[in-house]
Amino acid sequence: MEFKLQPGGDITGEARVPGDKSISHRSIMLGALARGVTRISGFLEGEDALATVAAFRAMGVRIDGPEEGVVTVHGVGLKGLSAPAAPLDLGNSGTSIRLLAGLLAGQSFDSELTGDDSLRGRPMGRVMTPLTLMGAQIQGAAGDRPPLRISGHRPLSGIRYDLPMASAQVKSCVLLAGLYASGTTSVTEPAPTRDHTERMLRGFGYEVRCEDGVISLDGGGALAATAIDVPADISSAAFFLVAASIAPGSDLLLTHVGINPTRIGVINILQLMGADIVLRNQREVGGEPVADIRVRHAPLRGIEIPPEQVPLAIDEFPALFIAAACAEGRTVLRGAEELRVKESDRIAAMAEGLTTLGIANQVLDDGIVIDGGTLGGGVIHTFHDHRIAMSFAIAALRAESEIRILDCDNVATSFPGFDALARGLGLQISAMTG
Ligand code: S3P
Repeated sequence: MEFKLQPGGDITGEARVPGDKSISHRSIMLGALARGVTRISGFLEGEDALATVAAFRAMGVRIDGPEEGVVTVHGVGLKGLSAPAAPLDLGNSGTSIRLLAGLLAGQSFDSELTGDDSLRGRPMGRVMTPLTLMGAQIQGAAGDRPPLRISGHRPLSGIRYDLPMASAQVKSCVLLAGLYASGTTSVTEPAPTRDHTERMLRGFGYEVRCEDGVISLDGGGALAATAIDVPADISSAAFFLVAASIAPGSDLLLTHVGINPTRIGVINILQLMGADIVLRNQREVGGEPVADIRVRHAPLRGIEIPPEQVPLAIDEFPALFIAAACAEGRTVLRGAEELRVKESDRIAAMAEGLTTLGIANQVLDDGIVIDGGTLGGGVIHTFHDHRIAMSFAIAALRAESEIRILDCDNVATSFPGFDALARGLGLQISAMTG
């Protein structure tokens, strides 16, 4: 699929973007491992979350739905999974493979995890190392890439692990293995990362302690089924926060958006750039903070992105780079080397597209320098990355001529219906298959 965008327009109206991807994955995983029936609403019906659903079905868990965002998971308990008949294919989903590696390390059966070309190029040593320290046996392909072969029947012991990088996937992987380990499993992180696993474990009645930056749990407990209402994904909302900020005349209300403090870097950074973003009706839904967000057009200025905001906005940088391209002056990002190992090398992919549109930029090992300017049009390569596709789509609001974006199929991994929703709000987008 390709996107074709005509230049100009504004973003006006009200919308609820699809459910949070991170929370959707975890709701299936913990629902499956709980005793009893978990009912999920607001579930993201995107390919990544559906890969997690398929994996648990392949391990004998009955899952009804999703139907209009409602999923019912018939939990089998921590020890109730059965051996899958074939390797589990997790498509494009890094969250699925890394979190599943942790919980499969504690099973009494062997398993194999794989995925698409992009996932098979992503580093898994970061989860293999702590799991091996816990007693797991995992074999990867060359360079510790998927497929991962995980041996069952390996007793795990709790460890105290200092994460070498700020990664919620690695943290969650170790904590999920810790459910199966003897004793206490603890992790410390170099910077706070999204804490949905910790919050949701507590929601399922499992004690997770968080003291002086050390997150720990004891193995051998049980999860009790619960109800989960998944908020709209701030990472999907981010495209429209930027879109409405950059397009003159815009006035947008995004409803029921998750504003977990470990995820709101995009709001903080845009506000530092001068954006007009107001949070309304703040409330708590199932242990996660939620708000309606009003955003209106405002002139943006370039900034040096504060390092502490980087892990809090890690998935939103492609969209933020478009904000920087439309801002007055220079934006500098450093300390974001993790962007190089996402669904694509997001620094290289965004730099290439920005250059195509005539925006001066300088690539750094761990970030980028972007000088705001006038956006032209052109043909953009997404490197099969959903967030690169959606970022350049919103860039059209400020472009001087047509933008064509190749290879947009993967938008469905996180944001099914992006083009229709964006069109309804004012983006002049058409999607072409074939
Ligand atoms: C995720 C954590 C982040 C993020 C990814 C989802 C999660 O990855 O980029 O999209 O659900 O735990 P890292 O933890 O590898 O930074």
